[in-house]
Amino acid sequence: MKYILQKAKEIHNLSKEEIVKILSVDDFDDELFLTANKVRKKFVGNEIHLRALIEFSNICSQNCCYCGIRRDNKKIQRYRIEPDEIIEIAKKAASLGFKTIVLQSGEDAYFNIEKLSYIVESIKKLDVAITLSIGEKTLEEYQILKNAGADRFLIRIETTDEKLYKKNHPNMSYQNRLKAIKNIKKAGFEVGTGILIGLPDQTIDSIADDILFFKKINADMIGLGPFIPAENTPLETTKHGDFNLSIKVLALTRLFLPDINIPATTAMETLHPNGRKIALQAGANVIMPNLTDEKYKKLYNIYPNKAGINVFSNDDIEEIKKQLNTIGRTISTDYGFRKTSKYNKIS
Ligand code: 5AD
Repeated sequence: MKYILQKAKEIHNLSKEEIVKILSVDDFDDELFLTANKVRKKFVGNEIHLRALIEFSNICSQNCCYCGIRRDNKKIQRYRIEPDEIIEIAKKAASLGFKTIVLQSGEDAYFNIEKLSYIVESIKKLDVAITLSIGEKTLEEYQILKNAGADRFLIRIETTDEKLYKKNHPNMSYQNRLKAIKNIKKAGFEVGTGILIGLPDQTIDSIADDILFFKKINADMIGLGPFIPAENTPLETTKHGDFNLSIKVLALTRLFLPDINIPATTAMETLHPNGRKIALQAGANVIMPNLTDEKYKKLYNIYPNKAGINVFSNDDIEEIKKQLNTIGRTISTDYGFRKTSKYNKIS
């Protein structure tokens, strides 16, 4: 096992069998986390990138079985924040010092390409990087949004196990998802993808494939989190994903893609009181504080009891800074693009 970890640290790759071994045995977890932490420090340093998250609509035309804002959930109150109000929130984020604004929503057709372009163009004037997390679009639409000034795009593959994908995504197709990821790259975005950990019937074997997939597509960002059952969904009575396994996948992802951006996600924090700190010490280098107004934020329930940090004032930023300092980390003041690396050329 020590040999496998050393190998991962040096060549940033492992066989599927070796990944499965690491994921299946827990005796070497501390060593895995320490190794990932060292690799994180060497390649991306001690700076944490803060991304201001704005959840601007929970209206969604998709019906993902795990997701609390799926179309068929008639029991939640739906909302959308109008473009000019989104821009106001972004202004506030920029004035608080955020250098990246993340715009996330369900797949809500109200936000057509004209509206989205207007939002992106307006926010771009604030001298910030823009990340979109708004689902599947056509190549042409991705290109328009890139030209409007968006820099990055998040779209999780959710799982690379095609059967599991099909089961959890009625009326969606794995091939379309893959194509969307490729088109996002083609349009020139930095691309972020990722998976859910612990979906019912997901295997360790398939998670090993997921990690190899991240490497193969040379993702610039990877977002991972344990699955948390949400009310009024087909999976509401199932078990949540394992926190420790999620951290192990994060650590392995850092070893495989040493220079990318990896957030400590809200789902990790939701399952463990120290989730964020643990993730930051096992390979993560990004946090995404929520800037969405309280009245909307509580409605963006992709899963229950969503934790996460809220930032509404300078004091909140100071508090984050203080907490990060206790683990030897500082807040970055740059845009936080991926640091390019010879290790991650597309093969
Ligand atoms: N538990 C954990 N993560 C979830 N997501 C959606 N629903 C859940 C859930 N119940 C994740 C998906 C999606 C991201 C925005 O949130 O992976 O891509």
